[in-house]
Amino acid sequence: MPILDEHSLEFLSHSPEQTQRFGVRLGELLQPGDLICLTGDLGSGKTTLAQGIARGWGSLDPATSPTFVLINEYRRADAATLYHFDAFRLSGVAEAVALGIEELLERDGPVLVEWPERVAEALTPQRLWVSLRWVDDLRRGLHFEAFGLRYERMLRQFRKVTFGA
Ligand SMILES: Nc1ncnc2c1ncn2[C@@H]1O[C@H](COP(=O)(O)OP(=O)(O)O)[C@@H](O)[C@H]1O
Ligand SMILES: [Mg+2]
Repeated sequence: MPILDEHSLEFLSHSPEQTQRFGVRLGELLQPGDLICLTGDLGSGKTTLAQGIARGWGSLDPATSPTFVLINEYRRADAATLYHFDAFRLSGVAEAVALGIEELLERDGPVLVEWPERVAEALTPQRLWVSLRWVDDLRRGLHFEAFGLRYERMLRQFRKVTFGA
């Protein structure tokens, strides 16, 4: 059982498709205002996971990589929006603030942030912190850490639907 303690969870993905499926499970749990941070080296699978999250949340838009845009918006049939922010190309938190990251976090949509450590000061302390780690060509280690009651609940639900316990 991949449980570390009630605030965190660690498990292995064996393929990009499996990472997407983990993302779908997580995306199905998202509520307005949720913040999911995705950290890890280039190629560790952050965007792959984010695409699954968007699909599970109910995005009508095809999953695209935000590598060439800073903010991706995914829409749903009920007109809700999921924001996907990629801080990779940012010089720092000042640029993120200039781009409106704080306003983004105040909106109703859930927010996904890649490279969150680059904009840490602008992020709310309550969040799900997901770390991805390259293991080999097809395997990635995923580590989920919940900060705040909302995210502890999300983690419990994710653990239950994904691992059945
Ligand atoms: N288990 C896995 N989970 C996620 N991606 C994987 C996995 N195995 C191989 N990959 C590959 O690794 C790359 C991950 O890219 P991407 O999701 O864009 O990473 P990041 O956004 O962290 O830079 C993709 O080419 C994907 O096909
Ligand atoms: Mg990426």
